[in-house]
Amino acid sequence: MESLALYLHWPFCAAKCPYCDFNSHVRDSIDQGRWRDALRRELAREAARSGRRPLASIFFGGGTPSLMAPETAAALIEDAKRLFDAPDDLEITLEANPTSVEAAKLAAFRAAGVNRLSLGVQSLDAEALRFLGRRHDVPQAIAALEAARALFPRLSFDLIYARPGQAEASWRAEVRQALALAADHLSLYQLTIEPGTRFATEHARGAFALPDDDAAARLYWATVEEAARFGLSPYEVSNYAKSGAESRHNLVYWRYGDYLGIGPGAHQRLMLDGSLLAARRHRAPEEWLARVERDGHAVTEEEALSPRDRAREALLMGLRLAEGVDPARLAARSGLTLADSVDPAMLAACLDEGYLEWGAAGRLVATDEGRMRLDAMLPVLLR
Ligand SMILES: C[S@@+](CC[C@H](N)C(=O)[O-])C[C@H]1O[C@@H](n2cnc3c(N)ncnc32)[C@H](O)[C@@H]1O
Ligand code: SF4
Repeated sequence: MESLALYLHWPFCAAKCPYCDFNSHVRDSIDQGRWRDALRRELAREAARSGRRPLASIFFGGGTPSLMAPETAAALIEDAKRLFDAPDDLEITLEANPTSVEAAKLAAFRAAGVNRLSLGVQSLDAEALRFLGRRHDVPQAIAALEAARALFPRLSFDLIYARPGQAEASWRAEVRQALALAADHLSLYQLTIEPGTRFATEHARGAFALPDDDAAARLYWATVEEAARFGLSPYEVSNYAKSGAESRHNLVYWRYGDYLGIGPGAHQRLMLDGSLLAARRHRAPEEWLARVERDGHAVTEEEALSPRDRAREALLMGLRLAEGVDPARLAARSGLTLADSVDPAMLAACLDEGYLEWGAAGRLVATDEGRMRLDAMLPVLLR
């Protein structure tokens, strides 16, 4: 039976970063007990529906889940292990911010069962951290990384690049410093301006400019080169790992597997009786809490995806991966062949241009060039 990934969303942060449009909110006080009970209740409800299945991974994301009481993580991990078939080496990731408050709690999260930490370092440059509105400084980031390395068997961290005025040489130095401090896994995100954020307003009134496409591409290639020196390769558009250190949780999404999404705004894809059900939960934290306390869940929409929707999603996800898309898996998950899922003329054009290629065992793979242009390519490629 296909294994299942479990995502748990903690929707609170100490402050809202000016670039971020994740479902994250700042609150004066949080009733940790009520939140623990509600997350456990929604998890129990979904487990009853999905049935007992092998568990691939648990991921506490946010928001800032390192602000959660460690007992909440412990209770949810215990529940998940009881409700599903968990392997001994189950991957259990927690996202954490590197402020000292959270760093002090890391040992408690490790004791709760978390075995992989994903730290939101964002930059190792003091000025950039200020621009990004972060609440930590470079020494705190390094202290959190060192504390995390001593505690967790697996460690990853996030950096944001293509920042205003960022020079290639200084970015190379920053990546090298990061790689020396880390880690067998890094997430390197290109700064994007998300509608509705403070950065969107400031960018629109010309307060800062982002590097143009060519400059951003040069930074991307510099990143790939520096990561390769440390033995990390980009197994996904924004994710770099040593072989075997890939995020098993995220691979489930990108390979279009089943996942449960518990908590406000969490998405879910679950195959039940041959239907692939897409569910979405209420995004507002207080409304989510009230609904779970009343109904046992806060699902606001659930629909069975059509074969065409499934094929689109599987290709959107799979072409992000260096390994590409396996046509047999695409057919098994969507009911459509690859030939039925893409526009044949566009496929031929993308192969000709060198944006796509055929990989081992007939896999469709986006080349390095193609992966940089996925956002432009996919809407015209997919039927
Ligand atoms: C949910 S957050 C990570 C957890 C934690 N709250 C933190 O900030 O450290 C996921 C990651 O997405 C990245 N991110 C969020 N918004 C972004 C944006 N507009 N452009 C680029 N990266 C972004 C950041 O690197 C961030 O660490
Ligand atoms: S980047 Fe992280 S800390 Fe900042 S608002 Fe988003 S989720 Fe919260």
